[in-house]
Amino acid sequence: MSVASGRRPLIAGNWKMNGLAADGLELARAMRERVEATGAPDLELLLCPPATLVRAVSEALAGSGIAVGGQDCHAATGGAHTGDVSASMLADAGASYVILGHSERRQDHGETDALVRAKVIAAHGADLAALVCIGETEAERDGGQTLAVLSTQLEGSLPLVPPGGSAPFSSVNTVIAYEPVWAIGTGRTPTLEQVEEAHSHIRAYLSVLIRDDARRMRVLYGGSVKPDNAEALLGVADVDGALVGGASLKAQDFWAIAMSVPG
Ligand code: PGA
Repeated sequence: MSVASGRRPLIAGNWKMNGLAADGLELARAMRERVEATGAPDLELLLCPPATLVRAVSEALAGSGIAVGGQDCHAATGGAHTGDVSASMLADAGASYVILGHSERRQDHGETDALVRAKVIAAHGADLAALVCIGETEAERDGGQTLAVLSTQLEGSLPLVPPGGSAPFSSVNTVIAYEPVWAIGTGRTPTLEQVEEAHSHIRAYLSVLIRDDARRMRVLYGGSVKPDNAEALLGVADVDGALVGGASLKAQDFWAIAMSVPG
């Protein structure tokens, strides 16, 4: 990450399907205490608990500066969609972000780029910032397709930019997370060179879509970020923060990752 980039680092915790009220609130309070003890760090912290805890975690973090996000939303604003949650419901519960297109949603629920795009539009419609995940599988990397896959996912998952027109999304309401599927939850990470190559490709491709605003859009790295590799990963050019799964469930580890952001 380049200090001169002007992009505010974002460290996001994705709790996935973990957390009942007691442990979720304890984790949120532990993060709040750390922020209050150190003074507001020069970065943005985001916690994405399961939908059942968004309201309680938002209330526990009110006034702390720590943001809360959902992990998914439906593409529709409401209606007959049993079991789903709309973007405005998340916003109403206190969220300001929503993770979209996570590879576990793409795999477990067959989410396509087109569906992710529709969800991003729904999120923006509810004034939520979309944290859009993209990343190659191991077979795609082995096949030398990584950069092509990232381009396709970016173009297909973000709202369509009309030819010659201005983009219907911006660095204010959209964050990209590069998460190699094979690095998620495995303890394996790409080399720093591979991370740099992917991030610089993503930013270059974003500049085709949104021109100058690509310089302001944050691109996070995700996939087995831990306290012992965070400093190196966060030090890579064009890495503007991290999307953290497993290590975000322990306040000490998540905080250590946040404190690894280059000053
Ligand atoms: P992990 O998950 O940190 O447990 O690899 C990252 C993610 O899925 O966002």
